[in-house]
Amino acid sequence: MVLLGAPGAGKGTQAFRICEKLNVPHISTGDIFRKNIKELTPIGVIAKGYIDKGELVPDSVTEEIVRLRLAEPDCKNGYLLDGFPRTVAQAVALERFSKVDVVIDIDVPTEKLLRRMTGRRVCEKCGQSYHVDFLNGKTTCSECGGSLIHRADDVEETVNERLRVYAEKTMPLVQFYQDKGLLKRVNGDLPTDEVFAEILKVLE
Ligand code: AP5
Ligand code: MG
Ligand code: ZN
Repeated sequence: MVLLGAPGAGKGTQAFRICEKLNVPHISTGDIFRKNIKELTPIGVIAKGYIDKGELVPDSVTEEIVRLRLAEPDCKNGYLLDGFPRTVAQAVALERFSKVDVVIDIDVPTEKLLRRMTGRRVCEKCGQSYHVDFLNGKTTCSECGGSLIHRADDVEETVNERLRVYAEKTMPLVQFYQDKGLLKRVNGDLPTDEVFAEILKVLE
């Protein structure tokens, strides 16, 4: 299963719930890159240069990471991809090493996305997303107790570039998956629980 959607649309937020419910691994290329950046691995060093500017990490690097991850035993009975594929080339590559059953596009009006991202706080340990509007001053994760941090690419200038890159490189995937009859659209401009309920309806 693939989750599509603009930066800040709520892919990570919904992925946590979907994976808990369906008991499949949550594979977020953004989370994998951030872990590598934190651990100063060679991939992290490459990725940081792109992510900090709001650009995409090159397809070759990203595809290889996903190919290796999907070959791990926990993906045998399914998986949820969050943030991959993000270009038509990545989607074509994915077809070579796995078969996608369903693609869910979480749809949120562009003008709402900036505020979602600049106000986001992320758990350093488990990756769960929060928003300052609902945290009431809390600084730790209610799932695991980890510290909440502000992502380096969640500043306004970088967010604007991410949205531009999304429109140019990732939006064409909506048509790509629609043509294959795999695309399901969900209104992401609703409270989190209602978005999740819509996703479950689609999955039925
Ligand atoms: P990635 O980490 O995937 O970032 P992204 O796609 O920009 O998406 P986000 O994680 O920002 O948003 P989200 O949709 O997960 O929203 P969230 O649930 O957190 O990628 C980062 C970078 O890595 C990329 O820019 C690129 O450089 C690189 N990269 C990653 N994958 C790549 C690939 N395949 N190829 C090349 N490069 C790649 O929610 C956002 C906020 O909104 C939170 O504050 C949340 O609490 C709030 N919120 C969520 N749902 C709701 C709701 N229903 N109502 C109100 N608020 C809500
Ligand atoms: Mg995310
Ligand atoms: Zn946590």
